[in-house]
Amino acid sequence: METLVVDHPLVAHKLTVLRDADTDSPTFRRLADELVTLLAYEATRHVRVSEVTVDTPVAPAKGVRLAHPHPLVVPILRAGLGMLDGMTRLLPTAEVGFLGMIRNESTLQAETYATRLPDDLSGRQVYVVDPMLATGGTLAAAIEFLFERGADDVTAICLLAAPEGIAYMDAAFAGSGRPIRLVTAALDERLNEHGYIVPGLGDAGDRLYGVV
Ligand code: URA
Repeated sequence: METLVVDHPLVAHKLTVLRDADTDSPTFRRLADELVTLLAYEATRHVRVSEVTVDTPVAPAKGVRLAHPHPLVVPILRAGLGMLDGMTRLLPTAEVGFLGMIRNESTLQAETYATRLPDDLSGRQVYVVDPMLATGGTLAAAIEFLFERGADDVTAICLLAAPEGIAYMDAAFAGSGRPIRLVTAALDERLNEHGYIVPGLGDAGDRLYGVV
């Protein structure tokens, strides 16, 4: 997996406030949204385009347009929803699919509990959003699901990543030959015994939406 940790002072500033336990939920939501838009700029660096010519009021000009008019953005429920608007701000024509994943506490495997996605993703570029790449189990299962439906290029956008999660993803897709990219605002130290990213920012879903 190709991993990009976005190195930018605005990203670092927003992430620092996001991490702060004293940041309230409305501020957290706004900052997550702003941060995603900055990450989305980097994450769309490989979006496919076709060459076109348009007529300016003066003369023909060569340019590009998105090769597929509707890139697919897939938030992983629930916390990924907090990243959706930040993505569609940059990709206003995107289609949005939904994937609900939960960890089965007996098998410890990620299971899909809700899907709302096109049946056929052949030839589609997909942007998966989930704030925290922790163990990697959920993200790997989500990406596998998208590949099974035919997606041929997947970029994951996460606010934070743990080395364990990246290692898991690398192992899960090693030798698959499938193009997978990760764009994140920071690579943190480790996971703790509860599976939380350290230093992290706590439970992203709870901080976005409260403890429900
Ligand atoms: N999910 C979260 O919300 N936070 C973590 O630190 C790890 C997984």
